[in-house]
Amino acid sequence: MADKLRSESDSTLFTLDQARSDLMEVDASIRACLTWDYGERDNRIWRLYQKNKNSQWNADTDINWDYDVRFGASLTDEFSAGMATFVVDHESPVPKERLNEFRWQYQAWMVSQFLHGEQGALVTTARLVETVPDMESKVYAASQVADEARHVEAYARYIDEKLGESYPINPGLKALLRDLLAESEWDIVYLGMQVVVEGLALAATRLAGSGFGDPIITSITKMIARDEARHVGFGSVALAGLYDGMTSAELDQREKFLLEAIHLMSRRFLLKEVWERMDLDVEKGIRFARTDPMMFGYRQLLFQQVIHLLRQLGLLTPKLRDLFLSENLARPEAFRSAA
Ligand SMILES: [Fe+2]
Ligand SMILES: [Fe+2]
Repeated sequence: MADKLRSESDSTLFTLDQARSDLMEVDASIRACLTWDYGERDNRIWRLYQKNKNSQWNADTDINWDYDVRFGASLTDEFSAGMATFVVDHESPVPKERLNEFRWQYQAWMVSQFLHGEQGALVTTARLVETVPDMESKVYAASQVADEARHVEAYARYIDEKLGESYPINPGLKALLRDLLAESEWDIVYLGMQVVVEGLALAATRLAGSGFGDPIITSITKMIARDEARHVGFGSVALAGLYDGMTSAELDQREKFLLEAIHLMSRRFLLKEVWERMDLDVEKGIRFARTDPMMFGYRQLLFQQVIHLLRQLGLLTPKLRDLFLSENLARPEAFRSAA
């Protein structure tokens, strides 16, 4: 009976696969480890763990949920400045009279992707608790899991109770999460989640916190951004120096993974799903998202953090630099200090 579920409404029998088509399952071969060295109490990771414990907030009580968000209502100028280019640019797929609708759809898309990314962080960080070798990283990662659970809770509640409009996970993010959950090398899971996904999330939540159209989502993203700053800090501290001692074959494996991860994430910001939902010209929309100065300026701001982290770790290889440039994710000046 374990693989059969009975529908409550019509007594139809479903197989588990049919009934849970909302699941993504990934098989993995991992090496879980325990250590009998209970670690130091005065290193940077341990101090980040203390910070995590002291910075817990509660989505129920620390966010004022009273504001009445009306999806589709006219937004004030305060929230429209950054979107002006969508109507003044003749390449824009959004007609002037649909700008307000676009802003709401964009917000629903963005918050939905934040939510899916948070679940990815929740599950991959839980994996790190098992696989990282040192105790301070295990306890730190466990405290981050609790942070990510709150992030999922807050965004899911906002979408459910306030927005009423959501988007499925972007295919690029889904593919990256699948790769990460199948990965057996713990440092590559760090690179994918703590450096690439968390690095982008930190930048995106900082930018979004001032550009969204209501005070609830603004306060949620601001609180989450504070947590994400610690998470990114953990990634860079935990991996510091690790790559100095790796063989060229091992470094090639990391480079290959990063090239794929960056490529997948760059495709995330072409807004294909939004153009489709609004029944606009998808090809024109993607071309616009690729070339509009505001859009690629936004992507470049997001990827700055990732480039900075990769440089710190000694992983900013020529091939990665070329990819950042060819995908318009950075300007040549971004690499000058590394030259
Ligand atoms: Fe998070
Ligand atoms: Fe995080």
